[in-house]
Amino acid sequence: MPTAAPYLQDPHSFAQPNLVRVTHLRLDLAVNFTARILTGLATWQLDNTAGHTELILDARSLEIEATYLGETEAESTAFQLSAENDPVLGQALRIAIRPDTRAVTIRYRTTPEAAALQWLSPEQTAGRQHPFLFTQSQAILARTWIPCQDSPGVRFTYEARVAVPADLLALMSAGNPQVLDRAGHYEFRMEQPIPSYLMALAVGRLDFSSLSGRTGVYAEPETLPAATSEFGDLENMVAAAEELYGPYRWERYDLLVLPPSFPFGGMENPRLTFVTPTILTGDRSLTSLIAHELAHSWSGNLVTNATWNDFWLNEGFTVYFERRIMEKLYGKPYADMLQVLGHSALLHTMGELGAGSPDTHLHLDLAGRDPDEGLNEIAYEKGDYLLLTLERLVGRARLDTFIKEYFARHSFQSMDTASFVTYLRRELLDQEPGLEDRLQLDAWINGPGIPAGAPPVSSERFAAVEAALQQWQQGTPARELTLADWSSHEWVHFLQGLPADLSLAQLQELDDAFTFTSSTNAEILTAWFPRALAAGYEPVNGPLRQFLTRVGRRKFLVPLYKALLATPDGHARARQLYAEARPNYHSVATSTFDVLVGR
Ligand code: BES
Ligand code: ZN
Repeated sequence: MPTAAPYLQDPHSFAQPNLVRVTHLRLDLAVNFTARILTGLATWQLDNTAGHTELILDARSLEIEATYLGETEAESTAFQLSAENDPVLGQALRIAIRPDTRAVTIRYRTTPEAAALQWLSPEQTAGRQHPFLFTQSQAILARTWIPCQDSPGVRFTYEARVAVPADLLALMSAGNPQVLDRAGHYEFRMEQPIPSYLMALAVGRLDFSSLSGRTGVYAEPETLPAATSEFGDLENMVAAAEELYGPYRWERYDLLVLPPSFPFGGMENPRLTFVTPTILTGDRSLTSLIAHELAHSWSGNLVTNATWNDFWLNEGFTVYFERRIMEKLYGKPYADMLQVLGHSALLHTMGELGAGSPDTHLHLDLAGRDPDEGLNEIAYEKGDYLLLTLERLVGRARLDTFIKEYFARHSFQSMDTASFVTYLRRELLDQEPGLEDRLQLDAWINGPGIPAGAPPVSSERFAAVEAALQQWQQGTPARELTLADWSSHEWVHFLQGLPADLSLAQLQELDDAFTFTSSTNAEILTAWFPRALAAGYEPVNGPLRQFLTRVGRRKFLVPLYKALLATPDGHARARQLYAEARPNYHSVATSTFDVLVGR
């Protein structure tokens, strides 16, 4: 086994893990729904072999009450929060230690500003009876609920005790309970080392439903039946992933379906993926998102981007892996649809960022910026596209062997872009003269746009969609179009392929034929509403308002608010809707829309 790569200074962390590094966390938390705070005691085990006298942690909007040497509150020690309080990075928390100190204990509490936490009132849940809390730590929000070395290059194991109101269940990115504890006391252990951005907690009126010996789903009782049937293929997905790239290393794999305000589609919290309820369509057509989060159990959670500049190593590999899982389960024509949709999203993002933008490089430079702003579609789709190009050059068999070994050899370690390039050259590129030139590796990683020589992508199932679009534009009424049994993906492609300047009559015709406005599929609505808004098609107004006030998933909200803003009276309308919807959004969404729409 090669030794772990040395820690690369992370521009988004104050920690100096090369000097003193955390190795294990013992967390004691009490969840106070009335005050909307967590009160905590965090004990960090340290690796301080060089005998340094200061431990530096990251903290943001935390109240640090006291710090101690060792694992108890017996011997207090001095701490200092940096005078500089960066709105994104927060503060450096410096704790005085002795050369022989092996643990420190911190008594602290979160504040209502804690950006990772979303506290939901009962009305914001499916059951409407109990409050709900969930965390979102990626990218650098773990420091808003745990004082930690908040860099993806630092890993630790953890154990936690969490006290919650008696009728609620607590879950973490760890071994989880499957039944309610009458006293509201839960204990967790995570024995595989993880980075801080994978720390997660959710508390709510949740039930569990088993899907296989090692998989299952948690959701509110009202949502659980739909979730259980939607995710019926979960065990098959895990098995497919293992067949591709090696054993699942985290024991159980469960899903937690959150209330609709969850700001992402999914979050790969180890052992317990957090997922939006907007993929519960009833026809299993949006489950590639689960394949994606599952794939992170290898790309991201086992082999972790060293800093957020290396984000493509997490997401690019994961998108490639996700599509391979979907291909294994549902065939190549299905996976090709995902590839083509991803490719359009890539071209769209490239267009928005501009042809020469350094933010279209795979290797990013996010120093001085909120990583949340720099993390866009590029890492996902350009990263995937690089691997697809490599696949075409060396063949699947060789690429698969490479990826499987890459995961196996770097398990529970971090990886930066330069080390990856060295590894890729040594294991694959250098074995064949001219291969690196044909791949144009440097243009992918350090250049803008899409390198020439990237293979074309296409989908036979979309060819039928394009034929229908053409028929319609040539005068066939929408109702008479020949449509087979289309999935969400085909409908989204159909909607994206419509001409830009649709008339009100055309929108009405499409809506009469296909009932887009009353669709319950969030992907379809998100493709439809902008078309309707552009034409001033009023029947969407009610459903759009409904959607914006219920759903908090940023990927949907961004195109919708942008489409609203682009209409004649759009600014006022967007602001009004946003003011109404804002209380239901997580901070990662409000920080986007406070700027995009304005408060
Ligand atoms: N890890 C990401 C979510 C994330 C990225 C959170 C950066 C915070 C900062 C997760 O795996 C993800 O990519 N989710 C996507 C779904 C996916 C199918 C592309 C999402 O939420 O839309
Ligand atoms: Zn991802």
